[in-house]
Formats: sequence, structure tokens, C-alpha cells
Amino acid sequence: MKYVVFNWKMNPKTLTEANRLFTAVKKSATGLKRVNTIIAPPAVFLHDLSRGYRGKSVAFSAQNVFYEQEGSYTGEMSPAQAKDAGAGYAVIGHAERRAMGESDEVVRRKVSAALQVHLKPIIAVGERERDEDGEYVSIVRAQIKAALTEVPPSKFKNVLLTYEPTWTIGMDDAPDKNSVHQMMLLVRKTLLELFGKDAMKQVRVLYGGSVNPENAADIFSVPDLDGVLIGRVSLVPAQLHEVLKIANRK
Ligand code: PGA
Repeated sequence: MKYVVFNWKMNPKTLTEANRLFTAVKKSATGLKRVNTIIAPPAVFLHDLSRGYRGKSVAFSAQNVFYEQEGSYTGEMSPAQAKDAGAGYAVIGHAERRAMGESDEVVRRKVSAALQVHLKPIIAVGERERDEDGEYVSIVRAQIKAALTEVPPSKFKNVLLTYEPTWTIGMDDAPDKNSVHQMMLLVRKTLLELFGKDAMKQVRVLYGGSVNPENAADIFSVPDLDGVLIGRVSLVPAQLHEVLKIANRK
């Protein structure tokens, strides 16, 4: 089973448009046997979209959650609230949030809070820049270590880890499939070293950054890749349709 996570980010502008986009996703995702399709709409649309939906082809994710379940935290959404609004997943630590100051420590607390209410975390890791000396390896390692440090081994199977360094997001093309393969290997090796064999085998490892209909076949051919997280293409019905079709191929 491959995962395709559509991260809508702060789009679209209205609920009417969000409903239209969701209709397109449903149409494209229905009947696909080898794909778990997950949409991460803006929090304000989550409940409206999930409420009337009885199908099984699309699951819902928050784009972010806070690390407490309730209280005086103006502007935040708790994992419990996201769950109540229909989410089964929560993206945590996306590069765009880390760029706004979200630390490894905050990510750690958010992952714990999400698991507490049985939301599956989709943890995003990745360096900002790729330096010549390979320092990015220790950055990614520290991110993974912090994010999973409080995850009990029985929950490894509920965790998705997406490697999307800042330099792959929002580009014309994704890195070639060998580079993506290297990234998947780095994440699995780090999981093995830090948390053991079960973590390496059970945590789902995804790639994110500039996935599109042209490069999707190459990316899905990478061994050991459990799926992708997609930004811009998730807003274009014809393109998301194409990517889902490719993901569903054997
Ligand atoms: P992109 O975004 O697919 O538009 O590059 C990916 C992401 O930010 O997760």
C-alpha cells in the first residue's frame, strides 16, 4: 500500500472551492486498491469536508496540531479537536512550520499529544540546505531522534515519517530517483540505529518535495518508499488524478 498525502497548505480561499476540490479527490481516489489517499485541508474546512463523507477512499489529516488537548492557547488546535473534526492523521513539523520557529522539542511534544488521542502523526523532517560536509545527516538524525523519542514501540506502526528537505519543496522538479533512494536509506538507517529493527520496519517512510505527474513514476519506483507528500499538485484535479493513478500501479 502506498500513501499519498495531499497537503493543501493555506488553500483554497473558500469552503465552496474546498468542496469542489474534495469532490475531485474523491472521484480520483475511489476504487484505488493500492493507495491510501489522505488530504490535509486547512483546519477551518476539516469538519465541513469530513462531516458528510461516508466513503473509505479518502482519510483526513490536520496540517498541524498543538501539544496540549485543551486550554488557554489562543489560535491553536488540539489533537483532540482535530480528531473530533474528522482527522485521523496530523502533519507535524512541516518545513514551513519549522521555518516559523517550530523546534525539535516542540515537534516531540506534538507527536506525543497526537498519539495520545490516536491521531497518526505524519512527521516531516529534512535539512534546510545540503552542505558539502554532510552535516545535514546529523540534522536529520536529531530531528528523527527528537520526534520519536517518546513513541512507544507498539505505536511505531502508526507513525509516518516524510523526508522533505526545504530545498526540494516548491521546485520545478524533484531530485532524481537515486537521490530519493539515498534519502529513504538515510531515514531507515537512522531509525534502525536509534530505535531498532521494529522502528525501521514499521514506521512508514515517505518522500516530499516537488512530486508531479512527470516524475511520479520514477519516484514510486524507489525501493522502500511508502509514499509521498504533495503540495501544489494536490490543488490541480487533473494532476492529482494522474499522480494517484501512477501510485496505484504495481
Ligand atoms: P510541493 O510541496 O509538492 O509543492 O513541492 C511539498 C510540501 O511542502 O510538502
